[in-house]
Amino acid sequence: MTHPGADEAREKLLVNLTPELRRDLRIRAAEHGLNMQDAAASALNLWYDTPTAPEFEVRGAKSWGVFLPSGGPDRFAQECRDREITKVQGMAQAITLWLTSHPSPAERLVAQPVKRILVGNQKGGVGKTFVASGLAQAMAEMGLRVLLVDYDPQAHLTKRMQIPGLPEGGESLLKHMLGEAAKHLARSLVALPHERFGGRLHVLPASMDAFLMDAKLALLQVGRDTCLARALAPLEDSYDVIVLDGPPNLGLAIDLAINFVQRRPGELIDHSGILIPVWADRSSFDAYDMLHAQIATHSKMTGAVVDELGFVVNAYDPRKGVGTQAFNEGWNQMSAPGVLATFKDLVEGREASDNQVPLLEHAPNSAHANGMRALAKELAA
Ligand SMILES: Nc1ncnc2c1ncn2[C@@H]1O[C@H](COP(=O)(O)OP(=O)(O)O)[C@@H](O)[C@H]1O
Ligand SMILES: [Mg+2]
Repeated sequence: MTHPGADEAREKLLVNLTPELRRDLRIRAAEHGLNMQDAAASALNLWYDTPTAPEFEVRGAKSWGVFLPSGGPDRFAQECRDREITKVQGMAQAITLWLTSHPSPAERLVAQPVKRILVGNQKGGVGKTFVASGLAQAMAEMGLRVLLVDYDPQAHLTKRMQIPGLPEGGESLLKHMLGEAAKHLARSLVALPHERFGGRLHVLPASMDAFLMDAKLALLQVGRDTCLARALAPLEDSYDVIVLDGPPNLGLAIDLAINFVQRRPGELIDHSGILIPVWADRSSFDAYDMLHAQIATHSKMTGAVVDELGFVVNAYDPRKGVGTQAFNEGWNQMSAPGVLATFKDLVEGREASDNQVPLLEHAPNSAHANGMRALAKELAA
């Protein structure tokens, strides 16, 4: 199993951390040119030098793993015992101190491009469409203008939204990618009618020709790598967020999507990137290793910087046994990227797709819907 950021000379510290602190630490560390491990080590040193730190709210803290220089975990545990506080409190104090002493550099004020999120994993059935759709709904509900792209030729998203296909006069995304479209891509969008989305949630439906995407694009002589980014560019100013529901393979289409969500000059770490739904099972770890390798290869060959925003552990059912629970722990112990949300295997998720009603409309007060709202809030921060 790959542990990105793992380092043989370091020791792993497992401690709970709130999602807000984890995210702030990761972003702020990047802004200061540090990786998260070094920022955490620096935070602990600061804390050791600060005998009394204010108590910090740690409700909602989740399991988190970080690699510290040798001896680091023991020293931290001892210091917590001496101060008679829990480790979760100690780490929260340390990171808060560090964040206060390392404010955001001025570049943070630079206007950010549209947020671009690929919900991707080549493994089928892990919940890409469930997460992409729920996330887009929650973001629209909170007031953001959202474009949700059905980027899977199987058109599951389009069907579950009860969209019959492209609106009249609209041309497929593939046509736009190939440079063969005559009309504006906005003509191909469908606005969801539900009041809770306030007309802010638009879907680019899948089209039958998407099955030919890899074959057709392979013949494209110039501009292939950027053809998705180019096709979507005319829409970018009209949205705050673009969410792509990825296909269940690692073909050319995924490379183009990776290209589209790569970090742009001046764009903050984790503003855009790949959100990875997984299951708490062994094959999901294998699938992630492959996806991670593809992202790494893409980065190496093109120079792109691609942020893995985090995992969504989906359809989790701890009653399936200790193995399932252990795999869930495995995801939660990965520090970069971390687990941003966990969705249990619940009837609402299944019903919403079976009944072809958006989740937030079908079960607005369900744990699934609230989980999507929390995820949207975290990713929109
Ligand atoms: N957390 C969940 N609880 C219950 N059903 C789920 C959950 N997540 C996904 N599903 C259902 O499982 C099926 C597969 O999910 P889907 O999102 O289509 O996966 P993918 O897009 O990765 O192929 C769908 O019918 C979906 O409604
Ligand atoms: Mg899907």
